[in-house]
Amino acid sequence: FPPSDIINIAHRLTDLGMPKRARNSHKGACGKVTVIGGDIGMAGAPRLAAESCLRSGAGLVAVISRPEHLAIINNGRPELMFRGCELVDMEVYERLGWADILLIGPGLGKHDWGYNLLKAASLSDKPCVMDADALNLLALEPRKQRNWVLTPHAGEAARLLGIETADVESDRFSAVKALQAKYGGVVVLKGAGTLIFDGTVCHVAPVGNPGLASGGSGDVLGGIIAGLMAQGMTLMDASSAGVVIHGVAADMAAKEGERGMLACDLFPFIRLLVDNI
Ligand code: APR
Ligand code: MG
Repeated sequence: FPPSDIINIAHRLTDLGMPKRARNSHKGACGKVTVIGGDIGMAGAPRLAAESCLRSGAGLVAVISRPEHLAIINNGRPELMFRGCELVDMEVYERLGWADILLIGPGLGKHDWGYNLLKAASLSDKPCVMDADALNLLALEPRKQRNWVLTPHAGEAARLLGIETADVESDRFSAVKALQAKYGGVVVLKGAGTLIFDGTVCHVAPVGNPGLASGGSGDVLGGIIAGLMAQGMTLMDASSAGVVIHGVAADMAAKEGERGMLACDLFPFIRLLVDNI
């Protein structure tokens, strides 16, 4: 990269393109997100992602997951809508068609259930956030799309590029460039010092802390980005603001201790921060 194209966006929470909510806003105008994921044993991932979408201000959030996950998704969070999916049927297509934005991957698994849902979601051609196992499945059948955000950690990035994780970590700038060239859209390469690249400008966000190194914190990031996209931000602005909100929320949460911090501890801080972008 020429240095002028690398911009440090630590703590940049203003001027990223989301107007204040109008007095007469209604839920339909605040964006609809459908979160797709949660194969057997992994219901927590879409629940965290969906709750994070709500806390980021999305108007309506639905989850498509295994039918047996209804209780874990809805208990304590009845604001979420739920569509159980055994096989991809018309009702699943309806829930995909209903959404403005799709977030696919948290706990999706790599078996037929997740693969078929990923195929169905791809047919809709909607703007989407691709995370976790959606990326692992994409690595098996690479393709390019303009209107998606990919959020790999170093291991997922390595699979997407067909290289070793150590090679990603040793040159993260080259990795994010190669990912964007191969898959298109906006790439968010996660880890300490997350990089966000849209093919032109590379943002560096040195926010967050090792308290985030626990299961579920990536699901929360995907939810924030999808929630901001649903409210009308561009893919690049939503990704950049999302990473900063996530990292700053983690830095606020860490004041009560880094070790033992949980993904859900970010929610109250996300809510405080999201009104300031
Ligand atoms: N400093 C700053 N940020 C960090 C640090 C750190 N030391 N460690 C982690 N993070 C941030 C990352 O930048 C990212 O935003 O926390 C988040 C972790 O995301 P993931 O690696 O996706 O972790 P997780 O939520 O547990 O993923 C859930 O999906 O990606 C798969 O294999 C993963 O099965 C797991 C599931
Ligand atoms: Mg993850």
